[in-house]
Amino acid sequence: MTDVATIFRDHYGAEPEGLWAAPGRVNLIGEHTDYNDGFVLPFALPERVIAAAGRADAGWAVCSDLQGEPVSFDDPGEPGTVTGWAAYVAGVVWALRDAGYEPPPARIALTSDVPLGAGVSSSAALESAVLTALIDLGGLDIPAHERPALAQRGENVYVGAPTGIMDQSASIRCEAGRALFLDCRSQEVEQIPFDVAAEGLAVLVVNSNAPHRHVDGEYGARRKSCEEAARLLGVPALRDVSTDGLDQTLKQLDDEVMRRRVRHVVTEDQRVLDTVALLRSGRIREIGPLMTASHASMREDFEITVAEVDVAVEAALMAGAYGARMTGGGFGGCILALIDADRADAIASAIAEAYAKHGFTAPTPFVAVPSKGATRL
Ligand code: GLA
Repeated sequence: MTDVATIFRDHYGAEPEGLWAAPGRVNLIGEHTDYNDGFVLPFALPERVIAAAGRADAGWAVCSDLQGEPVSFDDPGEPGTVTGWAAYVAGVVWALRDAGYEPPPARIALTSDVPLGAGVSSSAALESAVLTALIDLGGLDIPAHERPALAQRGENVYVGAPTGIMDQSASIRCEAGRALFLDCRSQEVEQIPFDVAAEGLAVLVVNSNAPHRHVDGEYGARRKSCEEAARLLGVPALRDVSTDGLDQTLKQLDDEVMRRRVRHVVTEDQRVLDTVALLRSGRIREIGPLMTASHASMREDFEITVAEVDVAVEAALMAGAYGARMTGGGFGGCILALIDADRADAIASAIAEAYAKHGFTAPTPFVAVPSKGATRL
């Protein structure tokens, strides 16, 4: 990763006042549950966005060694005014202001080793790094639990992507060696011990490298369908639908596709709760079947997987993973597999072989270590 202080100096001819970092994430379990007021269990990756930043006289300037041209703006303006990658930065400034805070004018240089377009939240990492830097530089008094919603609002309203609150919560609130059990309704968290290495285990993440297809439109469509189902069922959100008597409940919905969408969300919330219960009592290996069931639910009921991720999950399981599932919004991205640590190479090879057989672009494997959330360096 490039030395971001050097980028700052080269670009602005001054020293940054500090460095701030915010990580990407994978989600252990709980997919498409966040915007249904449900439960998620992500952990932060060691890969992160680093921002070098310093206060300025007026306006905001951002440059990066990864993205296009440097961008500066005097004012974020109405949502949509700043476009392209800098919209994520302008969105943070806008959201802070909209919430009544005064973010300080600033110059920012960014670098990142979070893989782009892999479904591990490179954009939430960027938002969280910028948000943390601006909060510190401006001495703004905003407790950690209120920060993810600000970054999310920037993304939802300013950038226009209808995502939930998981990614920003993970990037800001995760702790090393833990998974973040988040109740997306109350925003309450519990840091769940997830020291896989101590058990001789590892989480193997494999980027499917599948081209993202229709991600934005399909995500929005799933979200709409869930909200419509909640309305038809007369509950505030699908989180309020019980797994008890679920088949009966589903009969109230005429649409067969909608019934399956609801079944995914309701059973997925339960799988998160079951996973947390197992982890609380140190039974890490036993979460494997829940991960695999989550994948089946995403494939059959929520219909957000693609051939590349299905093949990767299948190959990981055949090669001895305890459980495997796609992680993130879907239609490509990464899978994660819970494995014996000494099987990482063998399982990664098995997935690569399966890919070769199917004629898919080679996948990219890496072992994910639960890491800490946004911080000043
Ligand atoms: C994307 C969104 C999250 C969440 C996941 C699916 O990562 O940004 O809010 O909805 O998809 O679980």
